[in-house]
Amino acid sequence: RRVAVLISGRGSNLKTLIDAEQDAYEIVLVASNVEDAPGLDFARAAGIPVFAKSHKGLKRAEFDALIDAQLRAHDVEAVALAGYMRILSEGFVEGWAGRMINIHPSLLPLYKGLDTHARAIEAGDHFAGCSVHIVTAGLDEGPVIAQARVPIMPWDTPDTLSARVLIEEHRLYPRALAALTRTL
Ligand code: GRF
Repeated sequence: RRVAVLISGRGSNLKTLIDAEQDAYEIVLVASNVEDAPGLDFARAAGIPVFAKSHKGLKRAEFDALIDAQLRAHDVEAVALAGYMRILSEGFVEGWAGRMINIHPSLLPLYKGLDTHARAIEAGDHFAGCSVHIVTAGLDEGPVIAQARVPIMPWDTPDTLSARVLIEEHRLYPRALAALTRTL
């Protein structure tokens, strides 16, 4: 299946999706709302076409329509959000219903939104983790299709916990994307 990955930043999950590329999917486009997102270099190094354009000055739906046009032009069949820090318009989400997934650094339904690791530590949780879910209209909502769990150590800071969870993200996301694309 032909997949696009949407990023806004570092792109470490994009990198693992590229490295894990297998029979189930092929990344044919990487798009970003941040023109100089560092992660775009992983796409360029792999020879994957890049579409990078700032959303600034455009209405949400207008910007999403530009992304959508790129996806359609590249015959994309599924979309993976990987640190894409924009809320998507309803129309865009509907257009990719059942074909778009996101990775979120918490054990959903716990801790939607930002600062998940600080909130898990603050709450005194013994476990944290990451979830891959189908994207629906609500932020970080939608059915969870894969999850991985790590312990929270008494000495953890948001940074040390984030590093432990990220290792699991990198294991989980390629597998979840392959699983989704196999069902399409
Ligand atoms: C990851 O923690 C992911 O779960 C969250 O944003 C972060 C992106 O990191 N949605 P990277 O850009 O993939 O390195």
